[in-house]
Amino acid sequence: MTKTKTAQRLPLVVLISGEGTNLQAILDACASGALSAEVCTVISNRADAPGLRRAIAAGVPIHTIQATAQTARTDYDTALRILIERHNPQLILLAGFMRILSDAFVRHYRGRLLNIHPALLPKYRGLHTHRRVLAAGEHEHGCSVHFVTEELDGGPVIAQAKVAVRPDDTEAALRARVQRQEHRLYPRVVGWFAAGRLLLKNQTVWLDGAPLTRPKMFAEGSDSE
Ligand code: GAR
Repeated sequence: MTKTKTAQRLPLVVLISGEGTNLQAILDACASGALSAEVCTVISNRADAPGLRRAIAAGVPIHTIQATAQTARTDYDTALRILIERHNPQLILLAGFMRILSDAFVRHYRGRLLNIHPALLPKYRGLHTHRRVLAAGEHEHGCSVHFVTEELDGGPVIAQAKVAVRPDDTEAALRARVQRQEHRLYPRVVGWFAAGRLLLKNQTVWLDGAPLTRPKMFAEGSDSE
C-alpha cells in the first residue's frame, strides 16, 4: 500500500473495555480494504481487556487508562482526550467501552463519536439487554449504532440490525446472534462516515445528503442497504 493511500484512510481511535470482538470486526474490515479506515490506537480502561491482544496482533498501538474510586470523571476524561488527540482521529468508536463519559467530553467530540449498543434503541438502554429482552418475552431484538450525545444510550440512531428471538433462546445464544449482527453493522456505518456520506446536524442524522427520518434497518443476514 502506498503512503498516499494510507493518508487518505479515515483515522480512527477505538475505545474498549472487554473482548474487543467489535474492534476485531473493524480491524478486519480495514485489513481487507472493505473499510477505508485505519485504527491509529486502541484505548482501554482495563489493563486486562482481552481486546488489547487483538490490537497488538494487528500491530496497533495500545494504551490503558485505569481509574480508581478516587479518580474524578472529568480528570479521567481529560487524560483520555489528551491521549486521543495525540493520534488525531477523525472518528472515535466506542466498542464495548463500559465507562460513562462526561458531558464535556461528549460535547467536544459531537458528530465524531459513535457507539454500538446491543438493543434496538430507544428500547433497552443500559446493561443486561439480552437478559431483559428475554424476560420481557420480546419477539425481536438487535443492535444499534448511534452518535453519542450527553444522554446515555440516547443519541440519534443511525442504523440497526434485527434478530429474531427464538422460543428456546438463552442469554448467551441471543448475545452471540446479536453480536454477529454488530460485527456487520459497525464497519458498515463507519464506512458511510469514511465515505463522507454520514453526518450529524443538530439532533438529526444525515445520510447521503438527506435527513434520516428513521434508522437504516437491516434484517438478520441481509446485506442490502
Ligand atoms: C457489545 O455487544 C456491545 O454492543 C456492548 O458491549 C459488547 C462489547 O463486546 N456495548 C454496550 O453494552 C454499551 N452500552 P466486544 O468487546 O466483544 O466488542
